[in-house]
Amino acid sequence: MDAYDTLKIQLKASPKIWLITGAAGFVGSNLLEALLELDQQVVGLDNFSTGHQRNLDEIKKSVTPAQWQRFRFQNGDVRDSATCEKACEGVDYILHQAALGSVPRSIENPVATNQTNINGFLNMLVAARDAKVKRFVYAASSSTYGDHPDLPKIEHRIGKPLSPYAVTKLVNELYADVFANTYGFKTIGLRYFNIFGRRQDPNSAYAAVIPKWIHAMINNSPVYINGDGETSRDFCYIKNAIQANLLAATTENDSATNQVYNVAVGDRTCLNQLYEHLRNFLVDQFPHLQEAKVIYRDFRAGDVRHSLADISKARELLGYEPSHRIVEGIKEALEWYVGYLGGNRMETWPAQQQQAKPNSRGDIA
Ligand SMILES: NC(=O)c1ccc[n+]([C@@H]2O[C@H](COP(=O)([O-])OP(=O)(O)OC[C@H]3O[C@@H](n4cnc5c(N)ncnc54)[C@H](O)[C@@H]3O)[C@@H](O)[C@H]2O)c1
Repeated sequence: MDAYDTLKIQLKASPKIWLITGAAGFVGSNLLEALLELDQQVVGLDNFSTGHQRNLDEIKKSVTPAQWQRFRFQNGDVRDSATCEKACEGVDYILHQAALGSVPRSIENPVATNQTNINGFLNMLVAARDAKVKRFVYAASSSTYGDHPDLPKIEHRIGKPLSPYAVTKLVNELYADVFANTYGFKTIGLRYFNIFGRRQDPNSAYAAVIPKWIHAMINNSPVYINGDGETSRDFCYIKNAIQANLLAATTENDSATNQVYNVAVGDRTCLNQLYEHLRNFLVDQFPHLQEAKVIYRDFRAGDVRHSLADISKARELLGYEPSHRIVEGIKEALEWYVGYLGGNRMETWPAQQQQAKPNSRGDIA
């Protein structure tokens, strides 16, 4: 039995109280579902700026009524310190996901990204420290590697940030480190590498590449590739990220805390390959994809060319072992997206679709 299986048994036997910020978003809602399935008590904090009530509604349907009873939602903003204090009351572990994601969004509006990702982060750190929570695990980002040329990416070798978003994620790490050294407060940063899976929003103006392409492919809309398609990423299925969060929150290995970890698979997939994977899975159900062609256009500002993680640190110190490689993850994710986008719930989407900018670009950072 691996570390994660053992942990799940322990948590079921001895439930804890968790706070998930950004609980109505993609990663947050998946964490919420996993924790409720383990009979944990969960507080969710979100201001619905990029998250959705429909994500919470879907979880309500998927867990038992008893499990749902263990969830308390707080509609609030991490930029407000009183909100953060209230959310942290009585909590054992925090999984801080609330942030404004996306490199292009941060280039267009660096102040908004700064306010939530740095001020909001600091509010949460202070509130968590004062509430004496056992562990503060936060969503860091592979964007912190910036212009460092080395592959694979190793945690201690970072370059200069390439976007305002990357600056905010680096500052989070610096603050967490200072809180460890100054107040003895235990944190762990998880540098996510292109996480994908169910409930990742395909319709936002800043949608990530996988949901954006699935949406386009199912609807017979053009698929754009920024650059020549040889740009590569270490795409990581959401279940691996859930595992990393739960292991990080609960590890009793002292040398594992006050660290940052890559959360990925350790596989490199270029965009041309990604498109072929998606097409292979979808073509039987959507025969128009037989003839479909991608449209290549300019490289996008702020994007790094290649990204690939070394995950040995998380393996060694946290016992992290990814359960899904890209193809397994895509298969599971597509089952959900086809049901959602291509199936009978299609009518819930057009309103959001109209919010997306017509020239929106797939965010892969
Ligand atoms: N998805 C990825 O590939 C990826 C990669 C690297 C890092 N991350 C980080 O992971 C975290 C989760 O990302 P996601 O993909 O789930 O994004 P998401 O946009 O789906 O979720 C973020 C959630 O935070 C909420 N939020 C935003 N600002 C808030 C505020 N001021 N107060 C309260 N709630 C607020 C949003 O409403 C949303 O529900 C973010 O910190 C992001 O930067 C994600």
